[in-house]
Amino acid sequence: MDPYLLGLRLEGRRVVVVGGGAVASRRIPALLDAGAEILLVSPKVAASLEDLAAAGRIRWEARGYQPGDCAGAWLVCACTDDPQVNAAVAAAAEAQRTWYVRADDAGASAAWTPASGRAGDVRLGVLSVDPERGDPRHSAAIRDVLLADLQSGRVSARHGRRHPAGVAIIGGGPGDPGLITVRGRQLLAEADVVLTDRLAPRSLLDELRDDVEIIDAGKIPYGRAMAQEHINAALVSHARAGRFVARLKGGDPFVFGRGAEEVLACLRAGIPVTVVPGVTSAVGVPASAWVPVTHRGVAQEFHVVSVHVAPGDERSTVNWELLGGSSGTLVLLMAVERIGAVTGELLRYGRSPDTPVSVIADGTLPTQRTINSTLEQVESRIAEEGIRPPAIVVVGNVVSVAAEITELMRHVTA
Ligand SMILES: C[S@@+](CC[C@H](N)C(=O)[O-])C[C@H]1O[C@@H](n2cnc3c(N)ncnc32)[C@H](O)[C@@H]1O
Repeated sequence: MDPYLLGLRLEGRRVVVVGGGAVASRRIPALLDAGAEILLVSPKVAASLEDLAAAGRIRWEARGYQPGDCAGAWLVCACTDDPQVNAAVAAAAEAQRTWYVRADDAGASAAWTPASGRAGDVRLGVLSVDPERGDPRHSAAIRDVLLADLQSGRVSARHGRRHPAGVAIIGGGPGDPGLITVRGRQLLAEADVVLTDRLAPRSLLDELRDDVEIIDAGKIPYGRAMAQEHINAALVSHARAGRFVARLKGGDPFVFGRGAEEVLACLRAGIPVTVVPGVTSAVGVPASAWVPVTHRGVAQEFHVVSVHVAPGDERSTVNWELLGGSSGTLVLLMAVERIGAVTGELLRYGRSPDTPVSVIADGTLPTQRTINSTLEQVESRIAEEGIRPPAIVVVGNVVSVAAEITELMRHVTA
C-alpha cells in the first residue's frame, strides 16, 4: 500500500523521542519548528540536544526507556541504536494507537519521515513509497532539486495563492550569486519588479521570468542624493500599483547601503516593507581572500569605515586618531580613491608603517584581485596595479594570517 501523506500540526502536542544520538539531533529541531512539546528519554545525548534541554526547549530525562514513557504522546520516535529497545518503544506506541517512527527499521514503522524542506510558504515532503528497499538519499536528492528550483524561481509557486505585497529590501551579498540568502532568493523569485544596484549579484537577474520588470537603479540619471529620492519614489509607485517590488542591493542593505532610507520612505507612504539581511562585503570580501577580520591573539576588534569622504573633509565624522591608535583590524570601504589621505592619518596617529594591508577588488567575483602591501606603500601599489573600485582595504596583522593560510593551501590539493 502507498503511504498516506499528512502534515502533522504538532503545536502544543507531546512527542516522545527515545534515544539522543545523531538521528534524534536531526529530527528534534524540525519537531520543535512544528511547535511540538518534546520529551527526550536517553541516558546520554548529543551536545546540541543537551543545549536544547539546558535552554528549556525540550524536556530530557537522562535514563533508559521505561514502559509508560509513551503515555500521552501523539507521536513517538524510536531512535536508539538498540533494535530491542526500539521494538519495545514501537510496541508500546502501537498498543496505545499512537503513530511511531522507528529509525532502525522502516518496515516496522507505523509512519515514515519524508525528506522535507521549505521554500517560502510551501513545505515540501518527498517520500519513497518503498523506504525499506529504497535509498533515503534518493528522496533527499529529489527534495534538493525541487527546493533549489523553487528558491531560484525556475519553478514558480506563484499561481493559486496569495501574492506578497509591498517592497522587499534584499541584501544580495558581495557579488557571487551563491552568497545571497535563501530568503532573499525566494523573495526575488516572487517579484514583479526588481530595482537593482550596480554592486548587486546581477547574474541572478537572468533567472527571473520574462515578464519581470528590471530597473537598473545605477542608471537613474541624477546626482547621488537625487537618485536616491527617485529610487524611493519608484519603490513606492510600483508597490502602489499592486506590484511586489524587490530592491536588490549589494552586501547588506543596512551597511552603507542606504537601506534604512528606503524602508523609511516605504513606511511613510504606507507601503508594507521587509528587509532581508545580506553578507556584507566588509566581512565577506576579506573572507574570500582568506583574511579573517578577527583572529585569536591577533585582533580582538574590527572597525568598518566608509571612506566616501576623505579624512579632513568637513563632512567626515570618523575619528581617525582613535583608529590610528587602536590595534584592531580596519576594514575600509570606498577607500581606493582616497587611500593616500587615509594612510597619512593612520601613520600620523601611531600605526606602524609596516602594518600589513590587503586590497581586494571585485571580491567573490571571477575577476577578484588581491594585492598585499604595507601601510607605507599601499598607495603606490594601488596606483601601479591599477586597482579600481569596488575594493575593500584591510589594515592590520590579520593580513599575515591570510598569508599563512594561502601558503598552506598551496600544499593541500582538493
Ligand atoms: C556603497 S558601499 C555598499 C556596501 C554594501 N552595502 C555591503 O554591505 O557590502 C560600496 C562599497 O562596498 C565595497 N564593496 C562592495 N562589493 C564589493 C566587492 N565585491 N568587492 C570589493 N569591495 C566591495 C566597496 O568598497 C564599495 O565601494
